[in-house]
Amino acid sequence: MPRKKEEQQEADQSASRIRAEELRAQLDFHAYRYHVLDAPEISDAGYDKLMRELEGLEERYPELITPDSPTQRVGAAPSQLFAPVQHSDRLLSLDNAFNDDELDAWYGRVVKELGRDPALFCEPKIDGVSVAVVYENGRYIRGATRGDGNVGEDITPNIRTIRGLPPKLDTDEPPSWLELRGEVFLNIADFEKVNEELGEQGKTLFANPRNASAGTLRQKDPKITASRPLSIYFHGVVRADGLNLRTHSETFEYLQSVGLRVHPDGKKVTKLAQVKAYCAATNERRHSLDHEIDGVVVKVDDLAERADLGATAKAPRWAIAFKFPPEEQTTVLNDIHVNVGRTGAVTPFAILEPVRVGGVTVSQATLHNPSEIERKGVLIDDHVVVRRAGDVIPEVVAPIPSLRSGTERKFKMPKKCPSCGEPLNFDEVVTRCTNLACPAQFLEGIFHFAGRGAMDIDHLGYKTGHALVEQKLIEDVADIFFLDEEAIATLPGHKDKSVTNLFDAIQRAKDRPIDRLLYGLGIRHVGSTTARDIADHFGSIEQIAAAGVDDLLAVEGVGRVVAESIVEFFRRPKTAELLEKFKRAGLRMSEERKATTGPLSGKTFVITGTLEAMSRDEAARRLVELGAKVASSVSKKTDYLVAGSSPGSKLAKAEQLGIEVLDEAGLLDLLN
Ligand code: IVH
Repeated sequence: MPRKKEEQQEADQSASRIRAEELRAQLDFHAYRYHVLDAPEISDAGYDKLMRELEGLEERYPELITPDSPTQRVGAAPSQLFAPVQHSDRLLSLDNAFNDDELDAWYGRVVKELGRDPALFCEPKIDGVSVAVVYENGRYIRGATRGDGNVGEDITPNIRTIRGLPPKLDTDEPPSWLELRGEVFLNIADFEKVNEELGEQGKTLFANPRNASAGTLRQKDPKITASRPLSIYFHGVVRADGLNLRTHSETFEYLQSVGLRVHPDGKKVTKLAQVKAYCAATNERRHSLDHEIDGVVVKVDDLAERADLGATAKAPRWAIAFKFPPEEQTTVLNDIHVNVGRTGAVTPFAILEPVRVGGVTVSQATLHNPSEIERKGVLIDDHVVVRRAGDVIPEVVAPIPSLRSGTERKFKMPKKCPSCGEPLNFDEVVTRCTNLACPAQFLEGIFHFAGRGAMDIDHLGYKTGHALVEQKLIEDVADIFFLDEEAIATLPGHKDKSVTNLFDAIQRAKDRPIDRLLYGLGIRHVGSTTARDIADHFGSIEQIAAAGVDDLLAVEGVGRVVAESIVEFFRRPKTAELLEKFKRAGLRMSEERKATTGPLSGKTFVITGTLEAMSRDEAARRLVELGAKVASSVSKKTDYLVAGSSPGSKLAKAEQLGIEVLDEAGLLDLLN
């Protein structure tokens, strides 16, 4: 080897040695925080990244591998709080695949080793806490954490409190020894309840359901564990004396038959293409599940084939975790700015060092309100955990105090509105700018008015709205309809075709149904469904404007707060002026109370919870297009409840009334 190259390689190797040591120390620290303290500081994705870097270095320079390297073991040493339990079979970790290529590579290795295409089994990867559970002669006798994989912690009384974990198996011929592996987790709704209670007691909140499950499982007092509704799904059997289980699918059926919970979405497949379809479909649905998952575990189904494949020091070769894009990341919070909304609400938001999370690059995140910042203890310049879970708007979850340098600063809410300079009102929970002529509120109002659920004026976004206000071409939203092409041509970036486009879009909007106009007015508490119910009931804007609180209360789904807000809005002199202008501009102000006909006519729907594929408004619009009526509350007249994730009380009411419930997949079927 030429001398120069040799020197370079030596230098590279020594740099790698130093970096590997660094990585090992970091990984040890984070594993300890995760497994022992239940207080992880970095996201799973952050941990995986460090681990991959170390794996890469060790692959290049195998002499750097130490016996205690995090790449060679699982988890962290058990804590001293609980008695140690020696697992009869090591609790391993799983290798990850972050994309289809890595999945292909794993499958290729399996096929090569076995010499045939094996049957596979897919299950959601539950984002919970790994446990080992033993039944002796059909009775629950032991539950333990993973610990370092060999020795875990005895948490038998805590696991006993899990609802859905039978103290006795439902069989007359139980195996003499049944040792299981499973995942303990908290449903998202239960996690939120736990945090709500902790908040009321002034205690520190858990950052996510997994931390809450871990913290709950490792309580010294099982009464506290029992007070929080943990759940469990079993995903494997390591010893079953006296049973003859040959495949994982058979195992699943057996567990179910004796009363042990397995994931309802577990599925046997025979082709890799089916695995990919399963992973894609599960990723799509992940936010409509009531618990968190972070991927899919793909396993060889046949237990004899598994034995042939064996395991590395860390993970079985017969399984792989197909990981979804991470929804939590760590980054630096560079500053906190405030935004003034349509109703004057002033909300702080974080300016972040851009980071990829939930599949997109995020540079801003909501902080909700100043008390939320206080509650979370977030400072400017902090390292923070950012989350974007299904919802479009990312949020700052928590700071990472141990990474502070001392230069971090507290955020102070401005005393004056950043848009109009008027003093802010701090009397309510929400800080508000109460100046009705505030430019920021006006701009948000225009954006809402021209938005898709309202008047749907194409080509009228923030930039154009801003220019219209800036150049004093409009003073209220009605002025939009008096803009001529000459005026539009004075806007920056507008000439020729784009002038006509905007002009035509404005003319088209004059004929929108009146519920869209009503919704577009941005009356507090009037969403698009309520607007539709009210428009259906009264038939004209004039009638709505003349209605009293009692008249409005007669509309199904309208309560007192909504009714009072509407009456107050139409009582304002400014509103009367606005309506007058709408009329003059030729907007449609009344509606024949026509029953739309279509395949769904005569059917009443209520939509609740979060939908994945579209917003609730859009779903309502599409149902109405098919002739359906969409109401805002469940009653005996409701035919179907469409329930997205976190459906809340409407679902309970629908179930009580025996109303048919559609999940999002059912809705999509119907719409298509
Ligand atoms: S099978 C290695 N199936 O993920 C033993 N594990 O990251 C085979 N996990 O330690 C595990 N959901 O605690 C399996 N459906 C599932 C799972 C699952 C969550 C956990 C498990 C494992 C960890 C590895």
